[in-house]
Amino acid sequence: MTLKAIVAMDPNGAIGRDGGLPWHYPADLRFFKRTTRGNTVVMGRRTWASIGRPLPDRLNIVLTRRGLEGVAEAAPGEGSGATETAARANREELTGTGVIAVASADDALRAHAEHGRGDLYVIGGAQVYAAFARRVDEWIVTRIPEAVADADTFLPDSLFAGFERYRSEEIGDGLVVDFLRRA
Ligand SMILES: NC(=O)c1ccc[n+]([C@@H]2O[C@H](COP(=O)([O-])OP(=O)(O)OC[C@H]3O[C@@H](n4cnc5c(N)ncnc54)[C@H](OP(=O)(O)O)[C@@H]3O)[C@@H](O)[C@H]2O)c1
Repeated sequence: MTLKAIVAMDPNGAIGRDGGLPWHYPADLRFFKRTTRGNTVVMGRRTWASIGRPLPDRLNIVLTRRGLEGVAEAAPGEGSGATETAARANREELTGTGVIAVASADDALRAHAEHGRGDLYVIGGAQVYAAFARRVDEWIVTRIPEAVADADTFLPDSLFAGFERYRSEEIGDGLVVDFLRRA
């Protein structure tokens, strides 16, 4: 299993503002979708709230220490898949969505091993990138060209210490994605 972190950030490391993304780049949303679909994504409770729905065709793991109303708690050994676990816990709202709430990064890795498929993508926000930083094998970084005003969520440079770029891809809308792996 490869652990990948995917993020879009401006030249100052800004990634968020007022609980959401500070920009709207359809090309980046398309890139995110084609990169992560068919795999597992793990996100923080605030990012989950900002997305507002489970990302389709992906197991969605949500990190929270206090639990999520309406989201099934991970139940190790129970059920044969995340979708079933979620559906049993809250059949009306969650059938077919594939959402698991977990209380730690270790539990997220276990939930992926048990219920997920493909690679595990850390999709933010800042707290969750930090929680997984030492285990990340690869960073996928969309470079937002303009600095954002009034951003309130940033990634520290230290998260990328020891990584080097091994390829870049133009994805449209004037955006470039850098792929970084451990040097
Ligand atoms: N540009 C990008 O690519 C990108 C990607 C994702 C998000 N964002 C932006 O980033 C911002 C949100 O980031 P954020 O750092 O404020 O919040 P976040 O990481 O999305 O969520 C934080 C919450 O996750 C839970 N959590 C975090 N670490 C945990 C751990 N080790 N164990 C258990 N639970 C843990 C806690 O939930 P509880 O409080 O429920 O315990 C915590 O309050 C938003 O503006 C969002 O739009 C940007």
